[in-house]
Amino acid sequence: MKIVQSIGEIRGVVKKLQLQNKKVAFVPTMGALHNGHLSLIRRAKKHADHIVVSIYVNPEQFGPNEDFGSYPRTIERDLEFCRQEGVGTVFTPNDEIMYGSGEKFFRIEIDVLNKHLDGGSRPGYFQGIALVVNKLFNIVQPDIAVFGQKDYQQFQIIQQMVNEFNHDLELVMAPIERAEDGLALSSRNAYLSDEERALAPLLFKKMRECVEEIQAGLMEPQSLFKTKQDELEAKGFKNDYFNTFSMNRMEPVAKLSKGERYVLATAVYLGKTRLIDNIIFEC
Ligand code: PAJ
Repeated sequence: MKIVQSIGEIRGVVKKLQLQNKKVAFVPTMGALHNGHLSLIRRAKKHADHIVVSIYVNPEQFGPNEDFGSYPRTIERDLEFCRQEGVGTVFTPNDEIMYGSGEKFFRIEIDVLNKHLDGGSRPGYFQGIALVVNKLFNIVQPDIAVFGQKDYQQFQIIQQMVNEFNHDLELVMAPIERAEDGLALSSRNAYLSDEERALAPLLFKKMRECVEEIQAGLMEPQSLFKTKQDELEAKGFKNDYFNTFSMNRMEPVAKLSKGERYVLATAVYLGKTRLIDNIIFEC
């Protein structure tokens, strides 16, 4: 497994493989790898001959009061996981390589898709993600890139960016990897105390109950969502959002239609830890 830091080197590796008609799949990450990330690598392997994983904690996607400083950094362990999974190349740029030190004149603005969910709650978050992913795509130029459904709004924004900016690659969405008790795996789960960790799966349980009621015919689920949120608050969760959204525009939908697909998406805080989750379902 190659570990490369420079843009020139990663470009060289990928170009050489593509000249040999090898397909290159790219899995961008911020490290602190867990089974969710590994499932993306395994999915990528089905589509390509060579896997590139990037590990870079992108400062541009953290707000001033967010956890950039304390975000878990476990590079040696991450590299070992990558080796075990048969990753071909790990790209580990630093801030100087990704952003340089000169003045910046360009940003990516996003309309509609980032008004709600995490886009609504975390100003600048998806602009920071779009910026770094746009740069990573231009740097790596893979044939395929794999992202998780765990960050569904992120996937939609990147898919739309690929379409509108004509990135020459195919996006693949991998399903959400969960712990046995249902909690969606996340690098941020490492922040949870034992007590919080024991409580955390309740979120997915409440979400599943909602989807069951909707699929049994409840087409206007707002008061049900309010009840579930109250139940979560009573157990010590702090709610951010808990709602159904359109699959493509990421807009809240209060009245659901039979036969349509939606995403039930949530964000909560348990202590200081922010947890997000979602379920895609058909009415
Ligand atoms: P990160 O949070 O490290 O996630 C990297 C990828 O792993 C994302 O595509 C995310 O959706 C996926 N992922 C995380 N947990 C998952 C789970 N439980 N099941 C399936 N997939 C999961 O997302 C980012 O990094 C960054 O925003 C990034 C795209 C790298 C840009 O900086």
